Amino acid sequence: MKNPTLLDHDHSEMDSLLADFFPALEKRDIPRCLELLDLFWARLAVHIRAEHVHLFPAVLDACHSVQPPATPPTPPADAQEAINALRHEHDFFMTEIWRTLKLLRALPETASREGSAEALEAIRQKAEIIAQRLHAHNEREEGGVYRWAEALLDERAGAALASKMQVELENMPPRFHH
Ligand SMILES: [Fe+2]
Ligand SMILES: [Fe+2]
Repeated sequence: MKNPTLLDHDHSEMDSLLADFFPALEKRDIPRCLELLDLFWARLAVHIRAEHVHLFPAVLDACHSVQPPATPPTPPADAQEAINALRHEHDFFMTEIWRTLKLLRALPETASREGSAEALEAIRQKAEIIAQRLHAHNEREEGGVYRWAEALLDERAGAALASKMQVELENMPPRFHH
């Protein structure tokens, strides 16, 4: 594979945030869990925005205006449907992460020391499902739409797209500005 693109790289950075979340939950370090999941949620929100606002329209436009490459990765005839499915999954992630954050915030102050096993288990299960589905989603993007973009866009268009997405990824909510 070529050098990882901007969004591939962003996937791996978010993977490591989520990988740190589970041991923190195991240790009942609720403030750390909140910090990690809040950051993860915000990072995923800007990532998804970059995909919706820049990547997906650029790929769909190119599908109509550019001669597809003779060899794979070639976008399928139903690229629009594939992209709709990705968008649908994005909605799932944003809603479910938000719900998990709410459950975390609703934990009693004593949760880090005693009780609340059931609530913590519910949070763990939700986060597990999010992590699994996100893993599959990201693999599909990394083997699909990200590669279609590389195949369809020439160097100039690819660079212009990357810089617009970079701006989007850096556009984090003010609470993360340090
Ligand atoms: Fe996505
Ligand atoms: Fe993505």
